[in-house]
Amino acid sequence: MKIIVTAGPTREAIDPVRFLSNRSSGKMGYAIAEAALKRGHTVRLISGPVSLLPPPNARMYQVESAADMLQAVVENFAWCDALIMSAAVADWRPVHQAEHKLKKCSAMSNLKLERTTDILQTVAPQKSHQIIIGFAAETKNLIAEARRKLSAKNMDMIIANDVSREDAGFAVDTNAASIITQDSSEDLPLMQKSELALEIIQRLEKLPPANNITRRRHQKK
Ligand code: CTP
Repeated sequence: MKIIVTAGPTREAIDPVRFLSNRSSGKMGYAIAEAALKRGHTVRLISGPVSLLPPPNARMYQVESAADMLQAVVENFAWCDALIMSAAVADWRPVHQAEHKLKKCSAMSNLKLERTTDILQTVAPQKSHQIIIGFAAETKNLIAEARRKLSAKNMDMIIANDVSREDAGFAVDTNAASIITQDSSEDLPLMQKSELALEIIQRLEKLPPANNITRRRHQKK
């Protein structure tokens, strides 16, 4: 399969030295890219700023902001059979990016924010055969929130993880996830991110192409 993986955080510039971002380390996304390559797939990895070595044999797209990541995903979407959005895309960005470093006497408290574009919601309408897998990193109402996002963003599968746990989520090497589709929900035990990555890729391989999933849902009704 031809697989796009997004990974890491995005950075939304305030001025030349400051930005808004989040705690994503990119470990989960890079592990997914590595697992997909090991399974013989072709991988394009679209990564925000992280301190990880690019997996050999993945075609890399290094991006900075949510807008850069959106552009890279849109440009590559028609190529892929599956998109795995593990990136922690910033939801907000400063309305204005100052050309020069803001001085402490300038009114940082007046910082105005606007929403970034949702990448999954942008590409979902262009979906033909592509399978879309997303993530939900939550600190409460994990399964309900994941189900809401699965439907709202027209995903085929979502990986939900509780990032308030110390052994799961950002920056650590382990993760405890639930894997949810329209028809199923399964809680997986705590495992290495590399093991979870392989699990996700093996489940992706078993999913029928997206059109078939949609057809199957209609047949059920
Ligand atoms: N996502 C995206 N574009 C964005 C934000 C998120 O494509 N601008 C993707 C993420 O990569 C993830 C999924 O959407 O696969 C869910 O992201 P999450 O941040 O958990 O959800 P949000 O839609 O931002 O919702 P909320 O802020 O209500 O939790």
